[in-house]
Amino acid sequence: MPARSCWRFRRSWPRLSPTKPPECESEHKVTIKRIGGGRVSNWLNDNVSAGDVVQVLPPAGRFVLREADRPLLLFAGGSGITPVIALIKSALTRTSRTLKLVYANRDAASIIFEAELGELQARHPDRLQVVHSLDDSDGFLTPERVQAQLAGHAGAHFYLCGPGGFMEAVEQGLEAAAIPREAIFKELFVSPEDDVPTAEELASTAEADAGAGGCETLLVTVDGTLHELAYEAGKTVLQTARDAGVQPPFSCEDGYCSCCMAKLIEGEVKMRKNDCLTPRDLEDGWVLACQSVPQTKTVKIDWDAG
Ligand code: FES
Repeated sequence: MPARSCWRFRRSWPRLSPTKPPECESEHKVTIKRIGGGRVSNWLNDNVSAGDVVQVLPPAGRFVLREADRPLLLFAGGSGITPVIALIKSALTRTSRTLKLVYANRDAASIIFEAELGELQARHPDRLQVVHSLDDSDGFLTPERVQAQLAGHAGAHFYLCGPGGFMEAVEQGLEAAAIPREAIFKELFVSPEDDVPTAEELASTAEADAGAGGCETLLVTVDGTLHELAYEAGKTVLQTARDAGVQPPFSCEDGYCSCCMAKLIEGEVKMRKNDCLTPRDLEDGWVLACQSVPQTKTVKIDWDAG
C-alpha cells in the first residue's frame, strides 16, 4: 500500500517530522526547515529555545519500517530526509538489512544531516550506501536516473519522501522498472498555496454532498474492529467515524497529507478534493476519508487495508 503521511499539524504548519527512531535515541527530536514566508517554521526557528515547552500531538502515520528481511532502497528529496534518516537508524540498529539512500538536493549547501549520514556510513560501511544527487551539478533526478540506481536491488523495499516533482520522478522510475506497488512506501509533503477553495473544489463539494442523501449505513474497520455507523447526509467518512467515537488516523483534514487514506471495500464515495492520491492509488481503491462523502446505500471502508 502507499504509505500515509504522518504530519500532525494543521494547514499552513511547517514541515515537522520526527527524526528520532524510538529504539536508538532517548530524546524526542524534530527537524524544522525554515521556509521563506512560512509563518510557523520562521516563528519556531526564531522564538523557541532550549527549556521552552511545546505541546504536540502524539506520533501517528504509517511511514514506518515494515518488518521484512529485504534490502532497503530509500529515496529522499530535500527535507524529505527527516523521516528517512529515522528509518535508516532504525534499520541499522535493529535489523541486519542492507540500505542504499539516494538523497537529492539543490546543491551541496542544502544537504541536511550530511555529517550524520557520513558518520552512519563510516560505522556501517558494508550495510549503508549513500548516493548524493545535486541538481546544480548532476541535474534533476529523472526516472531514468532512478532506474540506474536499482541495479542489484531486486526484491528490495522502497521508501520515498520528498516534494511533488521528486516523488513523480522516483515513482515513474520504479514503475518503469516494474517494481511491485506493494514494495513501495511513501510519504508526501506539499504546502497548500492558500486557504481559498477553487471553483472546481466548490463544484466538487456540491456534487459530492448532493449524492450523499442515499447512504444509510457506513461500515468502517479501524484497528481490527468493524463499526457499523449511522450516516448523516453531508458528512464525510472521517467526520462520521469520529463523531461516533471511532479513532482512525488523520491529520490535515484538508485532502493533502494522506494520513486518513483508507480502502473503499464496498459502495461509492465522492471526494471533495484530493491533493495527494495518485491515479494509481485511486485505481487501487484508496480514498481520503476526510474528503469522502458516501454516495450509495451502504459504504464500507477499511483503514487497516494494506
Ligand atoms: S487527513 Fe490529510 S488528507 Fe485526509
